[in-house]
Amino acid sequence: MVIAGRELGKTPYLRGDPIFGSARAFRDDPLGFIESARREHGDFVRIRLGPYRVYLLLGPEHVGHLLQKNPGNYLKDGYEHNEPLTGRGLLTSEGEFWRRQRRLAQPAFHKERLRDMVGTMTDSTEEMLGRWRDHLGKGGGRPLEIDAEMSRLTLSIVSRTLMGTDVSGGASEVGRSLEYTLWYAFRRTGRFFNPPFGFPTPKNLRYMKASETGEGMGRKQLRDEVMTFLAAGYETTARALAWTFYLLDRNPEEGRRLREELARVLGERTPMYEDLPRLLYTKMFVQESMRLYPPVWGLARRAKGEDEIGGHRVPKGSRLIISSYVTHRHPAFWENPEKFDPERFTPERSEGRPRYAYFPFGGGPRQCIGVNFATMEATLITAMVAQRFDLSLVPGHPVEPQANLTLKPRYGLPMVPRVAAG
Ligand code: HEM
Repeated sequence: MVIAGRELGKTPYLRGDPIFGSARAFRDDPLGFIESARREHGDFVRIRLGPYRVYLLLGPEHVGHLLQKNPGNYLKDGYEHNEPLTGRGLLTSEGEFWRRQRRLAQPAFHKERLRDMVGTMTDSTEEMLGRWRDHLGKGGGRPLEIDAEMSRLTLSIVSRTLMGTDVSGGASEVGRSLEYTLWYAFRRTGRFFNPPFGFPTPKNLRYMKASETGEGMGRKQLRDEVMTFLAAGYETTARALAWTFYLLDRNPEEGRRLREELARVLGERTPMYEDLPRLLYTKMFVQESMRLYPPVWGLARRAKGEDEIGGHRVPKGSRLIISSYVTHRHPAFWENPEKFDPERFTPERSEGRPRYAYFPFGGGPRQCIGVNFATMEATLITAMVAQRFDLSLVPGHPVEPQANLTLKPRYGLPMVPRVAAG
């Protein structure tokens, strides 16, 4: 049973179980737990997870404090499980080391680079749509696992575009090494049996050699960065897209408006970089999808020193959790929060909304480095799929978000494709 008390006279405290605190409730249903804590106790709630003192920061002002106003006082928390995968990559590293890595990676995300990536993004999408047409030709009717389809597509895109791009400028060794390393890692993910990396097969030897040639980055560091971009770059975008197609099926009126825009701006042709500023409704459609189903549903930090947030004292060593999923549905900032309504994101209706009422990509110095990449990618793919196909959820199939590392449809998303009318 959860007992609510008060600490420091004002910070609501959800004491929970005498031994575990709220650890079980949090583990079993983090989204439900955080949402009910907010509803019952407000935007700043102290809880305990086993031995840890934890604060839930659920209002935009508190989130902004953590991410943007005083990020120097906070370390990233909760990424230990990723350590074997991404090591000290950009996502997990701190301090001067992080700053250097971020500076090295930044050029890969510049506008001109993004422009060059559009063709690869639309080619990869075209290949997927070709497979879907074949699927229809072979008797159709059978559903596609949309979550898996999107993962395959975004993994192909991140490996072809970003790792083919030279992170250190020019066509240097690093670019080529990353390309090969990633291609190989990608192939390995698609197989049931892989020779261990230590095995001296010709491909393994080339892989190890490719990893060793990184200029300015040791072999371990290069590997960490490759795995970071893989881990951070594809599943998140895939999840955003899967939820978008689910919402497109569930909201026919908004779907009609989306297709109207696509017909007006593109007609039958493939989108280009120059079309993006005119695909405004498509972009808002994706933004609204990430409001309701943000792929990164929560972030955690640890306080290096004492701090004060919104009049509450936060002792050194405390853990802090913010949840885009919960704040994106906060009724003080979002009218009728459960409703899917892309036009919330028009400039007029966004006016006066606090910056951190919406943060699918985090914010401040640690904001997602892939924000423009992912937004562009998701807009292009949404446009191309909606131009060519109608996807309908298998009738009666249950859909429920599950807070894993990213927010996934717990029972998958089997959807039946049909060639779009008109
Ligand atoms: C819809 C897609 C995506 C979402 C929702 C998303 C979300 C996020 C969020 C919330 C953070 C902040 C983490 C924190 O503060 O603890 C982040 C960081 C990061 N993301 Fe993304 N991301 C997406 C796509 C991508 C892509 C496509 C890439 C790269 C190709 C990428 C690479 C990274 C990296 C490297 C970081 C760490 C940045 C740093 O700490 O300096 N992400 N992402």
